[in-house]
Amino acid sequence: MKFQQIYNQSIENPEEFWQKNSDDIFWFKKPTKILNKSNHPFYRWYEDGTTNTCYNALDVHIDNGIGDKTALIYDSPITGNKLKLTYKELKDKVSKFAGALINQGVKKGDRVIIYMPMIPEAVVAMLACGRIGAIHSVVFGGFASNELASRIDDSKAKILLTASCGFEPSRTVEYKPLVDGALKLANHKVEKVIFFQRKGNEVKLNAPLEISWDEALSNSKDTDCVEMNSNEYAYILYTSGTTGIPKGIVRDIGGHIVALKWTMKNIYNINKEDVWWSASDIGWIVGHSYIVYAPLFKGCTTVLFEGKPVGTPDAGAFWKIISDYKVKSLFTAPTAFRAIKKEDPDGKFFSKYNLSSFKSLFLAGERADPDTIKWAERLLNVPVIDHWWQTETSWAISSNCTGIEMMKTKYGSACKAVPGYDVKIIKPDHSIAKPNEMGDIVVKLPLPPGTFPTLWNADDRYKKTYMTNYEGYYQTYDAGHIDEDGYIWIMSRTDDIINVAGHRLSTGAIEEVLSEHQSVAECAVIGIADKLKGQLPIGLIALKAGVDKDNETITKECIQMVRDKVGPVAAFKTVIVVKRLPKTRSGKILRGTVRKIADSEDYKMPATIDDPIILDEIKEDLKKHRIIN
Ligand code: COA
Ligand code: AMP
Repeated sequence: MKFQQIYNQSIENPEEFWQKNSDDIFWFKKPTKILNKSNHPFYRWYEDGTTNTCYNALDVHIDNGIGDKTALIYDSPITGNKLKLTYKELKDKVSKFAGALINQGVKKGDRVIIYMPMIPEAVVAMLACGRIGAIHSVVFGGFASNELASRIDDSKAKILLTASCGFEPSRTVEYKPLVDGALKLANHKVEKVIFFQRKGNEVKLNAPLEISWDEALSNSKDTDCVEMNSNEYAYILYTSGTTGIPKGIVRDIGGHIVALKWTMKNIYNINKEDVWWSASDIGWIVGHSYIVYAPLFKGCTTVLFEGKPVGTPDAGAFWKIISDYKVKSLFTAPTAFRAIKKEDPDGKFFSKYNLSSFKSLFLAGERADPDTIKWAERLLNVPVIDHWWQTETSWAISSNCTGIEMMKTKYGSACKAVPGYDVKIIKPDHSIAKPNEMGDIVVKLPLPPGTFPTLWNADDRYKKTYMTNYEGYYQTYDAGHIDEDGYIWIMSRTDDIINVAGHRLSTGAIEEVLSEHQSVAECAVIGIADKLKGQLPIGLIALKAGVDKDNETITKECIQMVRDKVGPVAAFKTVIVVKRLPKTRSGKILRGTVRKIADSEDYKMPATIDDPIILDEIKEDLKKHRIIN
């Protein structure tokens, strides 16, 4: 069946569409109620069904006779470690670790924080939570103590799982001091911290709070999957909000399994016999959905790569993985390809490998710039597909659905709405835009299965943030247009979120840190265009009167504070001391205008500006710092 027909079915009769697709997964009890719409905007999919995330990721494949097939390939170019686990082997590890969690008192519904590098044990931990009905919350390793602490407090986690260290190309990331710092900052007390000791980098643990992974496993028994209601939660994944307080995106169990399994064939054209690789990190939504869950629900082979596109050891790292493991498709962020292109523009490394298995490249996380797409197409000679999605949805809102019908590429567009998503553009007067008219991108409710049913312990915030400005629609906070062929063009965010190397960050969170500096009177953080990372945050600070420290010391301290409190992943390296910040007469800082100036874009002098001279002062400051010419 062709794409348009399938898409229309999904929009005209979503219940029938998602009932049919729900037959493709394992249920203890099949749902009879497909969609409950009675409590708008809190829609519930499959509410009387019971199932288990881990059963669908592992056990079901063993039941179906493919237990000896490779489920997970781990490759760590920095340590040289490699491992292949079959579905049976992975299930054994998960079932034992689930027993270890039970021995520590973890019960169904308890929260478990996973703050770990990209090692198989992290995947084992995620699946073990699912096995016993615990809710995991993975925290990206590049976040610092403060961010970890806020997640411990909000989730009220019972247990924290971590490792002795992670490896970045230029340094070893010691988790122990970061964990110690977070435990000190958090008001909520976790009951146990379990450390995976990496060989040669073991750390000294303080019993009884801290124990090692091996100790936790020492008396553990194999553990079966528990029957979970479809609407109970598989995980919480915190993502940047418009303030410094992260939002706990929750994922219900049944809809997550149905939707993600459906995407593997329909969007990515991946079958059971294929090897699939998502070069992301389990700390991000792409890692949750496409390193761990979707490929395992599908029963194919997934690659877990503890490395980088460049520097581990060179710009051929991606080609080596594809050729060594016969990867069919890769999913990564455009920034990764920009990094490779920068280091190896002529593809010298590429020519050393045999990539005959490779059929398509998927990019997401930020807008894929046409230059990078065209470069990758020329080099790889396969379709390069930009698709658009968010932590909130867990799977693509728009894409070329390559398993249904390959559509033509329009460079700069993230292709068409995927079945399940009724995407519209709304103009400031709340009317629906005509083709090619710009506006806020929204999705008509109900959202399809697998998307977020609410925020962790924050129904009101869910309703107010996402479902109120445009009644009957989910507000994505992206802006853009849909063209005459139905192609979606994502142009910018409408809130303070920026995208740094595919990592979603809140400028508000960075501002909160800067304003804690005792010399800072006011600050503004904006994301400016960067050739490699897409965007980079820069800080403008105005100092309090009578400050006697020199500017250089203050800016260094500010940079260090952001590194310590948000984490190195913010890549926050530029702070400019300004005399005053440009504001409207009502006192709103004109961040948008400053960003346009910094990116050398045209801008209109805002009619409500308090004092236009300030913009000239800012221009001078940006020149001094070589941000503009
Ligand atoms: N744990 C601890 N620290 C981490 C980390 C992790 N998991 N990931 C990144 N960091 C640190 C880095 O070490 C670096 O620290 P430094 O300031 O001491 O050098 C900082 O955070 C910024 O890292 P990164 O964003 O990786 O930038 P980079 O300049 O080191 O590398 C790229 C640039 C393009 C190679 C890199 O950003 C990349 O691989 N991007 C792909 C992103 C991606 O997969 N995103 C997935 C979302 S879909
Ligand atoms: P995250 O929740 O971290 O996945 O970030 C989601 C945000 O990243 C979206 O709201 C967009 O702003 C941006 N994004 C993701 N994919 C794309 C894409 N293909 N094109 C443009 N922006 C994207």
